[in-house]
Amino acid sequence: MALLIRNGEIVTVGSRVHADIYAENETITRIGENLDVPPGTETVDAEAKLVFPGFIDPHVHIYLPFMATFAKDTHETASIAAIIGGTTTYIEMCCPNRNDDALAGYQLWKSKASGKSACDYAFHMSVTKFVQETESQLREIVADGTSSFKIFLAYKNFFGVDDGEMYQTLTLARQLGVIVTAHCENAELVARLQQQLLAEGKIGPEWHEPSRPESVETEGTGRFASFLENTGATGYVVHLSCEKALGAALAAKQRGVRLSVEAVLPHLLLDKSFAERPGVEGMKYVMSPPLRAKHNQHVLWNALALVFVDTVGTDHCPFDIEQKRLGKDAFTNIPNGIPGIEDRVNLLYTHGVKRGRIDLDRFVDSASTRVAKLFGLFPRKGTIAVGSDADLVIYDPNYRGTVSVKTQHVNNDYNGFEGMPIEGRPSVVTVRGKIQVRDGKFIGDRTRGQFLKREPNL
Ligand code: URP
Ligand code: ZN
Ligand code: ZN
Repeated sequence: MALLIRNGEIVTVGSRVHADIYAENETITRIGENLDVPPGTETVDAEAKLVFPGFIDPHVHIYLPFMATFAKDTHETASIAAIIGGTTTYIEMCCPNRNDDALAGYQLWKSKASGKSACDYAFHMSVTKFVQETESQLREIVADGTSSFKIFLAYKNFFGVDDGEMYQTLTLARQLGVIVTAHCENAELVARLQQQLLAEGKIGPEWHEPSRPESVETEGTGRFASFLENTGATGYVVHLSCEKALGAALAAKQRGVRLSVEAVLPHLLLDKSFAERPGVEGMKYVMSPPLRAKHNQHVLWNALALVFVDTVGTDHCPFDIEQKRLGKDAFTNIPNGIPGIEDRVNLLYTHGVKRGRIDLDRFVDSASTRVAKLFGLFPRKGTIAVGSDADLVIYDPNYRGTVSVKTQHVNNDYNGFEGMPIEGRPSVVTVRGKIQVRDGKFIGDRTRGQFLKREPNL
């Protein structure tokens, strides 16, 4: 059915206009004032609302075998939570480990999502080893439409690659025109520091941060940048958490290294004191890189405003309280991850735009447009323009609420942002022209989501 969004304030990067949007056959076909539309067109009144392009989460984990367990969400629960929160596309980390076959892993991840997502999705393909068949498999995966890789410098012997494997991955990525995203922490230092702390009887979640100090992330970030510099590949640092690592990334950018930076919601809004809470309360806040000393939040917000940080993702990775308790005798066994897919847009709007830390333009750019541009989705996604997919978020800036586990749709029994105020939420969300959400309720098609094929950048 055709769709008309009437009288909203359309916000895209560099533009704010009051106009109507008309969509048919899944795409936006007209934008203008007082549009004439055929009888029977479904109409949404967006008076006093902001109309944003559908938001894109560049970094989520849904199917994830990790740390002796599995992340909690299914593609159904995660995608519904995403759309209710205004995210209409997510890019999931496809993460086979070093013992798995990469191509079989890619097919497994695709099969987990296929026909089960309520919104559109793509993958970053993790390269967790580089063996004889890796090159041909990666070529096949890129030809299939997955044009971004992921490497982990952390998680020794599981996801982590060594320098030789990083070099081979980046060299191939350069040839293929593929961007490489990277988790930048020095795996060897983490392993040594963990053993040292445990040997000293330091077993609680408060020791997670000291086992992965800022210097460990700074080294990883700088090393990744040096490898980009020497291979000519294009890179993206995921979940950069602290001032020192930002310094390493900015120094590289200044040298002309093609490098973008992602911040994630937990590092913007939470600090290490959360993980220092006793017992399971602290375990809920264990993720890597860890939550940092508070001054880093201020640095990250400023960097986001100045476009030193390019994008905001979540690193959505839900483990429930029982799973977190796997680490009750050693912080090294606490499954790493904090969920956030449902709350990113509202918390970024409230604690970013409404608190004056970033403007509306940066909000849309960092959570949608720039993500689409970096990962080969623009202009199909990430903007409101004739020819773009009709992924629209009709946003009510007058809504007032509070984040809570009691109202969330993510499949988990806690919310790391519990009690935080939100000043605004989506009142209507569409995915390719179909209304999927109204006023916080999912009312749409649970299988609407499609795998997004992305071209490499050659
Ligand atoms: O703690 C985290 N970030 N868990 C998910 C895996 C990763 O490193 O992104
Ligand atoms: Zn990571
Ligand atoms: Zn992650």
